[in-house]
Amino acid sequence: MPLVTMRQLLDEAAAGNYGVAAFNVNNMEQIQGIMEAAQETQSPVIIQASRGARSYAGDRFLYHLMLAAAETYPEIPVALHQDHGNSPETCISAIELGFTSVMMDGSLAEDGKTPLDFEDNVAVTRKVVEYAHERGVTVEGELGTLGGMEDGVGSGEICLTDPEQAEEFVARTGVDALAVAIGTSHGAYKFSREPDGDILAMEIIEDIHRRLPDTHIVMHGSSSVPADVVERVKAAGGEVDAGFGVPISAIQRGIQHGVRKVNIDTDGRLAITAFMREHYRDKPGDWDPRGPGKAARAGQKFICMQRMVELGMAGHAQDYTPMTLEEMAARYAAAVGSPA
Ligand code: G3H
Ligand code: 13P
Ligand code: ZN
Repeated sequence: MPLVTMRQLLDEAAAGNYGVAAFNVNNMEQIQGIMEAAQETQSPVIIQASRGARSYAGDRFLYHLMLAAAETYPEIPVALHQDHGNSPETCISAIELGFTSVMMDGSLAEDGKTPLDFEDNVAVTRKVVEYAHERGVTVEGELGTLGGMEDGVGSGEICLTDPEQAEEFVARTGVDALAVAIGTSHGAYKFSREPDGDILAMEIIEDIHRRLPDTHIVMHGSSSVPADVVERVKAAGGEVDAGFGVPISAIQRGIQHGVRKVNIDTDGRLAITAFMREHYRDKPGDWDPRGPGKAARAGQKFICMQRMVELGMAGHAQDYTPMTLEEMAARYAAAVGSPA
């Protein structure tokens, strides 16, 4: 199956009332681990690359690895998504490369750190929507800022999404999906205690979903930071400054209220670290790169298998008659099915 658009994946998820995990990747082993899990659980999947991932792997390498994934698993619907695009230029370059979905993160300025005001966010996001929809490509916007800071992405301060402003933002930009800030942050240290309603504002999602029932909601910073995986990293000689993550039950509650895309990067990184460290601990004489590579692939797959079942996406790979970018562009032009 060719790469599908994220809009179609999310529309199907809304129809089936499940969530789709969006896993971050940087290399071949992560892509292979995700695809093996998708095949075994028969899940549709979103694979996303940050600017850092594009620069690490190289655009052409990353894109061709994705094409290889789609060719190798023709029955699995996969969307290729730009995570946290910091400017219209980043999003346009992703679309030119062949990404089927982009995030214009106008919650922050181009430096990825300074909060951007509402009007500027609307302006950059609208610009990307116009360019992308003409080409059938999906757009995710963000309103509100996450906490924390990972590799330069994030303001370091949480500014929760205002549901009333969310209504205006979606109406004025025409985004397909809206990333919201509810208290989560990127990375392994999200909360210093098991999150309750005081620090994880799930009711914001419920309010936004009531106001915007046709807009797909996106949860960033949604790794659960499993304590057993963190322990495995430490037991194998690693050091991680880990706190509490987002409980799976909170993600599942979100899914009941319009969350369709769930961003997971950290959990994959932690599992890869645990599996690779255990590999070298158990086989100190291994100097073949395929050994740790297989361990990395198995670590990514281990997390993906769990999340695919927990989010309800397992078993939904065959729901699709994929739409082409041209068909999606025509659909946008006719403004049919647009949440805006
Ligand atoms: O946006 C945050 C993701 O976890 C990507 O992180 O920029 O280190 O690739 P990264
Ligand atoms: P985590 O750091 O919780 O995995 O979040 C990833 C993310 O939101 C990528 O955009
Ligand atoms: Zn994010």
